[in-house]
Amino acid sequence: MPDNLSGILILYRKKIKGAINLSNRTLAILKPDCVEKNLIGQVIQKINEAGFKILAMKMTRLTKDSAGGFYEVHKERPFFGELLDYMTSGPCVPIALEKENAVADFRKLIGATNPADAEEGTIRKMYAESIERNIVHGSDSDENAAKEISHFFTRKELLENNGF
Ligand code: CMP
Repeated sequence: MPDNLSGILILYRKKIKGAINLSNRTLAILKPDCVEKNLIGQVIQKINEAGFKILAMKMTRLTKDSAGGFYEVHKERPFFGELLDYMTSGPCVPIALEKENAVADFRKLIGATNPADAEEGTIRKMYAESIERNIVHGSDSDENAAKEISHFFTRKELLENNGF
């Protein structure tokens, strides 16, 4: 086989593997308390140091509709209204991330939902003040990661930034 053809095949296989492997992506949201406290830089540094690659990122202010759609799984919970009020109270920073075992590794990095239960060294233990103002969101499964990434980012945005 000519050298250039085998090179093309190797690249193509890498591309297909990246395109179908959903377990290497997760969605983070730096929440309004993170933005308000000027902690965006510190939190992104922790994310980078833990080996995550940023695929796409933006600053945006959620509407009630958008936040309601994003957190639809919680719509019967007693805290749903407060969650929407809080998530729409100021800008937030959704970030699509890539790393092997992204969902589990990111949840480990951020710590328990309630910072009172989070392990030392985790992002929530370091910076969060309550279960509601808990600095950062992380997807809880590969399936939800794919849905959540598509809530904020188009295929075109992911494609332009990363080649697939
Ligand atoms: P997050 O990871 O973004 O997913 C759902 C969010 O709901 C969660 O982080 C918390 O910030 C919030 N949440 C979960 N439980 C409660 C609760 N008991 N009271 C208020 N907010 C909550």
